[in-house]
Amino acid sequence: MSNEVITGRTRVCGLIASPVAHTMSPAMHNAAFRSLGLDYVYVPFLVEPVDLPNALDGLRALNVRGFNVSIPHKVTCIPFLDGLDTLAEHIGAVNTVVNNEGEMRGYNTDAEGFLRSLTERRIPVAQRNVVIVGAGGAARAVAYVLAREGACLTVLNRTPAAAGELAEMMEDDFGRRVPYYALEDGALEEALRDAHILVNTTSVGMSPDNLSSPVPARLLRADLTVCDIVYNPVKTALLAAAETAGAATVSGVEMLAWQGALGFQLWTGAAAPFDLMRATVLDLLRDRED
Ligand code: ATR
Repeated sequence: MSNEVITGRTRVCGLIASPVAHTMSPAMHNAAFRSLGLDYVYVPFLVEPVDLPNALDGLRALNVRGFNVSIPHKVTCIPFLDGLDTLAEHIGAVNTVVNNEGEMRGYNTDAEGFLRSLTERRIPVAQRNVVIVGAGGAARAVAYVLAREGACLTVLNRTPAAAGELAEMMEDDFGRRVPYYALEDGALEEALRDAHILVNTTSVGMSPDNLSSPVPARLLRADLTVCDIVYNPVKTALLAAAETAGAATVSGVEMLAWQGALGFQLWTGAAAPFDLMRATVLDLLRDRED
C-alpha cells in the first residue's frame, strides 16, 4: 500500500491482466508513490478477456485515475477507449491508460520506455543500423520508436512472413527500406556485420528457458550494443554472451522500469523516482531467482 492509511482522497491506479499474480508493477508504483508522499495506491485486477468491456466500464465508473494494460488486453482494449496517443495508435497496442474524468486515453509507454532505456544511457539511435530479432507485438513497439528516431532497421524472425509484415509496416510509415530475413545463423551473421545495435524482442531466454539465446555467441562483438527485452533473468544468456564479447548491454529491466516511470508521470504529473522504481524491480527479481 502506498500510504499507511488509505484516505477518502486516495487516487487508485491499477493493472488489468490475466494472469496478474506475478506482476511487479504494484511494488514498483507503490514504492514510488510512497517515496514522493503521494496519496495514490496501485492494485492488480485479474480480468479475463470475456470481462474486459465490463471491467473498463467499471474502472471508469469507479473513477480510477489510470491503469496499466497487460497480456492479453493490449490490443483488444483499444475500441473501448475514448482516445489514443499517436504512438499507441501507430503501434496498435496500449499498455497505459489515463482516466481524465471519465475520458480514457491510451498510451504505449512500452515503446517510449524502450527508447528511454537507450537514450538515458547516451546510446545514439539516429542513423544507426539496428538488427531486431522477433516480429511480434513487442518488436512492433521497438521498431516503431527506433524508426521514428531515424534508425536503419533489419528484422529477423523465426517465421519470415511476420518479419515481412513488420518490415512493410515500417516502410509504409517511414518510407525507408527495411530488409527482413528468416532467423537463421547465416542471415544473422550478414545482418550483424555492419550493425551497431542488436535487440532481442522474442521470449527466447526467458525463465525457465534461461540457457537459450536467439543469437549465437560467436556473432557478438565488442562494438555492438546488445539489448534484451526479457527481464527475468536480469542477465539473459544473450546479455551474458554479449558481456563476454565486450559489448555494451541494456537489460529488459531498464525498459520495464522506464515504461512504469512514464506511466507514473502520466497519472500523477510528478517526475518519477526512476532509480527507486528500477531498484524495486531488481530486488523482486533477485528474490525470485533465489
Ligand atoms: P510479444 O507481444 O511479447 O512480442 P508475440 O506477439 O507472441 O509476443 O511475439 C513473440 C515473438 O517471439 C515472435 O516474433 C515469435 O516468433 P514467430 O513469429 O516465429 O512465432 C518469437 N519467438 C517465440 N518463441 C521463439 C523461439 N523459440 N524461437 C524464435 N523466436 C521465437
